[in-house]
Amino acid sequence: MNMIDLRSDTVTLPTADMKRAMMLAPLGDDVYGEDPSVNLLQDQMAALFGKEAGLFVPTGVMSNQLAIKAWTQPGDEVIVEKESHIFNYETAAPSMMSAVQLHPVAGTLGVFHPGDVTSAVRPDAYYYPRSTLVCIENTHNRMGGTLYPVEAMRDLRTACHAHGMGLHLDGARIWNAHIASGTPLRDYGETVDSISICFSKGLGAPVGSMLLGTQMLITKAHKYRKIFGGGMRQAGMLAAAALHAVEHHLSLLAEDHARARSFAEALSGMQSFGIDRARVQSNMVLLDFAGGPMRATEAQRRLHAEGVEIGMGTGDSLRAVFHLDLDTDAVERAIEVCRTVLD
Ligand SMILES: Cc1ncc(COP(=O)(O)O)c(C=O)c1O
Repeated sequence: MNMIDLRSDTVTLPTADMKRAMMLAPLGDDVYGEDPSVNLLQDQMAALFGKEAGLFVPTGVMSNQLAIKAWTQPGDEVIVEKESHIFNYETAAPSMMSAVQLHPVAGTLGVFHPGDVTSAVRPDAYYYPRSTLVCIENTHNRMGGTLYPVEAMRDLRTACHAHGMGLHLDGARIWNAHIASGTPLRDYGETVDSISICFSKGLGAPVGSMLLGTQMLITKAHKYRKIFGGGMRQAGMLAAAALHAVEHHLSLLAEDHARARSFAEALSGMQSFGIDRARVQSNMVLLDFAGGPMRATEAQRRLHAEGVEIGMGTGDSLRAVFHLDLDTDAVERAIEVCRTVLD
């Protein structure tokens, strides 16, 4: 049986054209700064997001952690959204790599009101940690791919700067936010002090993320990348995949979003789970089993048995993610299987 994989947009395989681009990439040793494909990708992304410089790294986690390391001193505090990837899924790395404390604050569907953040800032007293950085996420993974409006980001940045703090954006799926909202990538970039972007999620590259910010921040992050063991040699093959992904796959995200919407529409009104369609803003759909007759884990098991792989969401929910390697037939079959085995 051919499995339909709705677990994540990270499960996609490189296309034949992407592999060709990787094979043909001009290469050099990037630890010496001599890989032309990596340099091109860094320059292009910095220009695209209106930032001074970029640093290519293997993963989104490394990119976020380099930002935290470059922004903070040991003993500082970083304000993060309570459901964010940085707080939940990065293995307490800020405490290990940067010796900082995370201060989780709940947002509304992942979005902060500036007051949420300003009331979390520590007063200036010797017994408090120093609040130096705020991190947000767009789109928001655990909330089900919800958007952080750029106006709300601007308001937050004003509040952060008023308190001498930087604003970092985990933009692993900023591409989805851009396609869903129509906000130019440059506007997102210019609204934050640093941004992490991923090529390995909806864009379909096999590996690769990038930290973007001022030249000064990236110079610091470059040193820490070496310390974290993230210096790669002929990384141009990966950069070429990323360049190909941005050029050829960005506009295809609209199809993932349309598929997520039609999946949500087709399955709303089922007895065993609920879907909050207002939350279906990009390429994810949360199926909420709380209070219903079936547990999400049982639903996951039944779907697996019928050829549909789906991941757990937060609480008693499942998360369906739409991506490049799914076509209309696969989505229709997934809907049919859900209707049959979950009713
Ligand atoms: C919002 C968000 N940030 C960061 C990451 C980390 O990316 P990576 O798996 O490349 O480390 C992920 C991974 O799914 C993510 O969803």
